[in-house]
Amino acid sequence: MIRSRIIGTGSYLPQHILSNAELAARVDTSDEWIIERTGIRQRHIAAKGEFTSDLGTAAARAALANAGIDASAIDLIIVATATPDQTFPACATVIQHKLGMLHGVAFDVAAVCSGFLYALSVADAMLTSGAHRTALVIGAETFSRLLDWEDRATCVLFGDGAGAVVLRADAGEAGILATRLHSDGRYNDLLYVDGGPGSTGTTGKLRMKGKEVFRHAVTNLANVMTETLAAANLTAGDVDWVVPHQANLRILEATARKLNLPIERVVVTVDRHANTSAASVPLALDCAVADGRIKANDLLLLEAMGGGFTWGAAAVRW
Ligand code: UT7
Repeated sequence: MIRSRIIGTGSYLPQHILSNAELAARVDTSDEWIIERTGIRQRHIAAKGEFTSDLGTAAARAALANAGIDASAIDLIIVATATPDQTFPACATVIQHKLGMLHGVAFDVAAVCSGFLYALSVADAMLTSGAHRTALVIGAETFSRLLDWEDRATCVLFGDGAGAVVLRADAGEAGILATRLHSDGRYNDLLYVDGGPGSTGTTGKLRMKGKEVFRHAVTNLANVMTETLAAANLTAGDVDWVVPHQANLRILEATARKLNLPIERVVVTVDRHANTSAASVPLALDCAVADGRIKANDLLLLEAMGGGFTWGAAAVRW
C-alpha cells in the first residue's frame, strides 16, 4: 500500500524572545495571569524585514537536511499560512523561489490554526493519487503582525515561527493512516481579522471571543481525534504521542482528559512558542523528533482547531 511517509522534519523560530514580563510593561496583564490561564511563558517575534516566507524557507531547509535530500527532489510545496508576505503571489511560490527550485507545484492553503492539518491532508491525497512523489508541507506564520498590541485579551497569546515536513509516497506500514477535516462557517465571528484586501483594503487585526472558542475547541478536537482514530481502526489507547495545535495548555489538558490520555503523552510547546497558528503542529513535531521522544513505529495523533471554525486531525505511524 502506498502511504505518505514523513521522512524529515524541521523548524525555525525568530531570534527575538518576548517574555510575559515585557508584555506586562505594555498592557494591563501579568506573568501570573498569562501562565495560569494559558501556560504561555514566552513567544518568538520576527525581526523587522523578516517575513513569513523567510521563516518557512528556513524550516523547509532544516526539514530537507533532516530528510537528507535536496530541494531538487521536491515536486510539491504546500504552505499553510494566514500571514503571507503579500496578498498574492502565494507564499509557497516565494519559498519555492528561495529554495532555488525551477519545477514543481506550489500553493498556499488558508485554514488559519488548522492550516497544517489541511495542507497535510491535501498533500497526502496528491501523493497517494500518484500525481506527485515528494512534498514539502510547511506551516509558517508572523502572527505578531496581525495583533492589536493594545488588546491584552489577544496580544499575549500568539507568536511567530515555522515548521515543515518532507512527505514521500512510499510502500509500507509507516506514514499517514487517516486524516479528517471539518469546517463550520457559522462561527466566523468568534475568531477573525477585521480587515482584508477585498473589504477594507487593509490587513486588519485579529479579534477573538476567547471563552467561546475555548469551549468549541475542546469538544471539536476530542470528536475529530476519536473520528480519525476510528478511521484508522485504532483507539486512544494505541496513541504514543498527541502532537496538538498549541493554543492554550488548558485546552491540551481538557482534550487529553476527554480521551483518557495522560498529559505525559501530549507534546507541549505552548510554554515556549505560544500560539503560532499553522506553524504550531509542525514546530511541536520537530521538537519531539529532535529530542528523541518520537521513535520508529510510534503512533502519532496530530490535531488542530482554528478560525472559521476549521478543525482536523491526522493519525500517523512513524
Ligand atoms: O488558535 C485558535 C484557537 N484559539 C484558542 O483556542 C483560544 C481559546 N481561548 C483561550 O485560550 C482562553 O479563553 C483565553 C486564554 C483567551 C482567555 O482565558 P479565559 O480563562 O477564558 O479568560 P476570560 O476571557 O474569561 O477572561 C477572564 C478575565 C476577564 O476579566 P473579568 O471580566 O473577569 O474582570 C478578562 O478581562 O481575565 C481578563 N483578562 C486578562 N487579565 C489579565 C483577559 N485577558 C487578560 C490578560 N491579562 N492578558
